[in-house]
Amino acid sequence: MTSKTVAELLSQDGTLQDVSIKGWVRTFRANRFIALNDGSTINNIQCVVDFENFDESLLKRITTGAAIHVTGELVESQGKGQSVEIVVKTLDVLGDSDPETYPIQPKKHSFEFLRENAHLRTRTNTFSAVMRLRSSLSFAVHKYFNENGFNYMHTPIVTGSDAEGAGEMFKVTALDAKNPPLNEDGTVNYKEDFFGKETNLTVSGQLEAETYAMSLGKVYTFGPTFRAENSNTTRHLAEFWMIEPEVAFMDLAGNMDLAEDFMKSVLSYVLEHNKEDLEFLDNRLQKEEEKLPQAQRSDMSLIEKIKFVVDNNFKRVSYTEAIDILRNCKPNKKKKFNYLINEWGADLQSEHERFLVEKHFKCPVILFDYPANIKAFYMRLNEPDAEGRETVRAMDILFPGIGEMVGGSQREERLDVLKEKMKALDIDEKELWWYLDLRKYGTAVHSGFGLGFERLVMFTTGMGNIRDVIPYPRTPQNAEF
Ligand code: 4AD
Ligand code: MG
Repeated sequence: MTSKTVAELLSQDGTLQDVSIKGWVRTFRANRFIALNDGSTINNIQCVVDFENFDESLLKRITTGAAIHVTGELVESQGKGQSVEIVVKTLDVLGDSDPETYPIQPKKHSFEFLRENAHLRTRTNTFSAVMRLRSSLSFAVHKYFNENGFNYMHTPIVTGSDAEGAGEMFKVTALDAKNPPLNEDGTVNYKEDFFGKETNLTVSGQLEAETYAMSLGKVYTFGPTFRAENSNTTRHLAEFWMIEPEVAFMDLAGNMDLAEDFMKSVLSYVLEHNKEDLEFLDNRLQKEEEKLPQAQRSDMSLIEKIKFVVDNNFKRVSYTEAIDILRNCKPNKKKKFNYLINEWGADLQSEHERFLVEKHFKCPVILFDYPANIKAFYMRLNEPDAEGRETVRAMDILFPGIGEMVGGSQREERLDVLKEKMKALDIDEKELWWYLDLRKYGTAVHSGFGLGFERLVMFTTGMGNIRDVIPYPRTPQNAEF
C-alpha cells in the first residue's frame, strides 16, 4: 500500500480501498472526526474513527499538531463539507503533540504571534497557502524565462564592489572584530582579510548579469540580495529575493514589454494552478475588509485584482507627465502629502507612487525617463529635453497596494558617457574595470530590470506585510530562526 497525499486523494474520482496517508492533525472532533492535513493542499481530509475499535489511550493522543499515519478506505462522505472521507482501519501516532503547549491552536491567531512562531506558522491555512503560492510563482518565473530563451545565471552573493549604490551593504569579513589588523593610519587593513579586500553581501546581481548578457544574449538571475537599510516598513526586508533579467540589443521599450509580459505570465500561471489557495486567500481578505469602513474597502477581490493585471495594459507614463499630475492633484494642493511636489526633479515617495496607481490611473503604471540625478550611474542618458533637463532611460513599475515592484533601465553603453558619470559620482574606475570593458569590446544597447520577488508574492496573496510572505524574514533587530 503506497501512501498518497491529501491532494491526490481529494482529486481522486470515486472510492478506493486500502489508502494510506500521513499528516498532522488539525482537529479531532467528537472522538470521531480527524481533520488531517499534509501540506499538499489547503484542504484537510476527514478521517472517520469508530472509537469502539480503538484504545482510549490511543485516541487521547490524537491532538492538534500530532503526526499520524492512517490507513483505511476512501468512501463518499456522509456528511457535508467534503466529497470523500477515510473510514479508518489502522491508526498510528508517529509524533505526539502536547496540546497544552502547542502554539498553533485551532483558532484565529494574530500574524504577529505567528511571526514569533514562524517555524510552525505554515501549519495554518493562510501561511500554507501563501508559501505554496510563493513556490508556484518561483516555478513560473523559471518556466517563463526558460521558454523564452533566457539562461539562468548565478551571480555572486559576496561582492567586491559597492558601486551599484542601491543601498547600505552588509560587510563580509573573517577578521577578528575585537582585534583586526590595522593600517598605519588606524583603519582596518582588509588586505589581510579572507579575500584580500573589502567585501559585502550583494545588493543586486545586475552588474554581473550585464557581463553575461553581453555574451549569452538573454540572461536572468533569481537569488537573494541584501540591504542594510534601517527601514522598518511593511515593504522592506534586509534579505529579499530579486529577479533580474538582462538582455542584449534591447532598448527601454523592449524592457517594458518584457516586464509586462513576464508579470502577466507568472500571474496567469498561478491563476490556473493555485485556484484553491487563491480562493482561500481571497475569502480571508474579504472577511478582513468587512471590518473596514466602506470607503476603505477595495472594489475588487484578490482574484479580480490579479485578473485585472493579466487582462489590461500597464499604463506607461513619463516622469515629467507624472510630476504634472502630482503637482496639480488634490492631496498636493491641499497639502495632504508629507512631501509636497513643487517642481520637476523631486524624487517620488511611496505616497506619490500610490496616488498615481491607486487613485489616478487605477492600474499598474510604468514610469519612465526619470531625472538623471535621482537614478543610478549606469542608466542610459537621454538627450536633454526642450528645457535642457537631463533624464535617464529608467523605468519603475508601480502596483496598486504595493508601490514600486520593479526598477530597471536601459544601460549606458557609451564608454565616454559612462566614465564621465562615474567621475562625477566619485566611483573608482579601477574598481569597475571589468564593467567598463563591456563598453570597450563590442558594446551594444542593452537593458534589464529587477523585480522584488516578495512584493510580487504580496500582491498575489493579498498579504499586507512583507514579513509574512518569506519563510524567515530578516529585518532590523530580527534574525530569529
Ligand atoms: O530598484 P532596485 O534597487 O533596483 C536594482 O537593484 C537594480 N539593480 C535592478 C536591475 O535593474 N537589475 O530594486 C529592484 C526591486 C524594487 O523595485 C523592489 O521591488 C525590490 O527590488 N526591493 C526590495 N524588496 C524588499 N525589500 C527591500 N529592501 C527592497 N529593495 C528593493
Ligand atoms: Mg528602485
